[in-house]
Amino acid sequence: MLKKISSIDDNAISEFRKSGISELMKSVESSDWAIAEELNDKIVGVAFMGGLFHVSGIQLLKEFQGKGLGKKLQNELIVESKKHNYSFITMFNDPRNEASENLHNSLGYKKLFRINYAPDVKQDFKIISFNTKGKILSNFLKIFNTKGGMFLLGLMLKSFFPIFIKFVNHTEDDRPNPNLKWILNNFEKI
Ligand SMILES: CC(C)(COP(=O)(O)OP(=O)(O)OC[C@H]1O[C@@H](n2cnc3c(N)ncnc32)[C@H](O)[C@@H]1OP(=O)(O)O)[C@@H](O)C(=O)NCCC(=O)NCCS
Repeated sequence: MLKKISSIDDNAISEFRKSGISELMKSVESSDWAIAEELNDKIVGVAFMGGLFHVSGIQLLKEFQGKGLGKKLQNELIVESKKHNYSFITMFNDPRNEASENLHNSLGYKKLFRINYAPDVKQDFKIISFNTKGKILSNFLKIFNTKGGMFLLGLMLKSFFPIFIKFVNHTEDDRPNPNLKWILNNFEKI
């Protein structure tokens, strides 16, 4: 059964921890709101939203993957985002994650640029724009799909890393510090 979690309070965090979702994706705990699928009073999957850039994330318990639940949760997250009057929503994903690629592409997320962030950390930035403001932002962010733009982004990442983490609601522990040389040498236009 789908359940809206309108704010991530101690109660919600304790539910995420009980189900094991937090262990798989820590950023769920720092999100603003979420949609969860519950089975027998246990959360088995959650799509969540947070940060100034309205960054979405999604995580299902392993045994519930590949059965259409990801699509159901992401669909509901998009419906709910429109109700919040967001102009856009965004996400980061590793293009090698086929399930995530297929899921987000099929729901209309558009790829804007790729960051080859550090050895073995590759992330595509995607957006869905809901209105003109969202489309303007989307067009502006395409600047990072150039080598010059990526240099700027890398520099910003390096200089304001802790602030950036807040902007994008990213609190995974394994995130390495940005390596500007690596980012530029491995720039890929998409
Ligand atoms: C990514 C994830 C949310 C997808 O949810 P899911 O319930 O497994 O996916 P669904 O069954 O709803 O399928 C969605 C689409 O992905 C495709 N898909 C699902 N599993 C796949 C796989 N292992 N390989 C390739 N494609 C896959 C489906 O065919 C479907 O494609 P379509 O929309 O073109 O028909 C889920 O697998 C998951 O929690 N993975 C671990 C965490 C993660 O990677 N999160 C995303 C981080 S950005």
